[in-house]
Amino acid sequence: MDSEKKIIFSGIQPSGSLTLGNYIGALRNWSKLQEDYSCYFCVVDLHAITVRQDPAMLRKRCMDTLCLFIASGIDPVENTIFFQSHVSAHAELSWVLSCNTYFGELGRMIQFKEKSQKHSENVNAGLFTYPVLMAADILLYQADLVPVGADQKQHLEIARDLAVRFNNAYSETFKVPEPFISGVGSRIMSLADPTSKMSKSDANENGYILMLDEPDVIARKIKRAVTDSDGVIAYDESRPGIYNLINIMSACSGITPEQIVDTYEGKGYGDFKMAVADSVIACLEPLQKRYNEIRNDKTFINEVMARGDEKAAKAAYKTLNKVYKKVGFAPKSL
Ligand code: TYM
Repeated sequence: MDSEKKIIFSGIQPSGSLTLGNYIGALRNWSKLQEDYSCYFCVVDLHAITVRQDPAMLRKRCMDTLCLFIASGIDPVENTIFFQSHVSAHAELSWVLSCNTYFGELGRMIQFKEKSQKHSENVNAGLFTYPVLMAADILLYQADLVPVGADQKQHLEIARDLAVRFNNAYSETFKVPEPFISGVGSRIMSLADPTSKMSKSDANENGYILMLDEPDVIARKIKRAVTDSDGVIAYDESRPGIYNLINIMSACSGITPEQIVDTYEGKGYGDFKMAVADSVIACLEPLQKRYNEIRNDKTFINEVMARGDEKAAKAAYKTLNKVYKKVGFAPKSL
């Protein structure tokens, strides 16, 4: 029975085309966990507008993202796949939680500091309260587990703090969620600058591999990946270029980093990069095929959306009603 399963919530912003980092750090784990949990997977479009988006492009990316969830192997019948903006409880709970969040704790968020530097012309209030909306996403569904990449750890901590704070102030209301951050692949780095995260909003397209990149594009980007002049293949964090490529190959092929080093020790970077590219291409090929089958199937997509929105709303409003009662709002009818 679904209700006996523990609950997972996770989301991805449709703020760009999804990257190999999104796949390895998040999506791939979602599809592995789906059998054992009751899962809510959300296209977090409200979060995406904390950075200015072109409306037509955002609309397209919202649909692309939903289809990439399914193409990655997430079963849209067994799981709840939906858009954040279709369930207004997210914005509503976010308000209540923001009245229980301190200015200082939001100011400490690394992502806020990074993004306000990158978008210095638009340091808006939404960017600042972003983690509160993220906490609302998670707490609405009483999630036990949140599978994310390592960059989201600090946001998960604030979600836990807010759950505990609200429970202490108003009595037990929210489950306190645990992060699920897998080891190898939890932080895939840029190919152009292996000391910074691979990101869909990187201005340099050689820094990322998109989930929908063609095989020759993938091969070219990996061939150009920044490494070092040592010429030795070793799994060593202080050599970030090679370390990152080993992690990528390991995540895509299932071969351990140690086995990869054993196989390619003494060989040149050229051969090794070709092997990395082959593993990425092979890993993405089936999902690209599935994506192309479903992306233009409007009937199928509409069915997935309708089912997901309805299931999500049902769970979300149950929690929101409880919250409204606890904080002392008047009931809608006596
Ligand atoms: P977003 O859209 O930046 O990224 C989506 C997921 O992909 C992971 N990820 C990576 N993992 C490894 N290496 C990388 N280079 C890499 N880049 C991205 C992220 O860790 C994330 O798991 N705030 C979230 C979206 C969100 C959310 C939520 C997540 C909103 N509400 C509730 C979980 C639960 C974000 O910016 O994701």
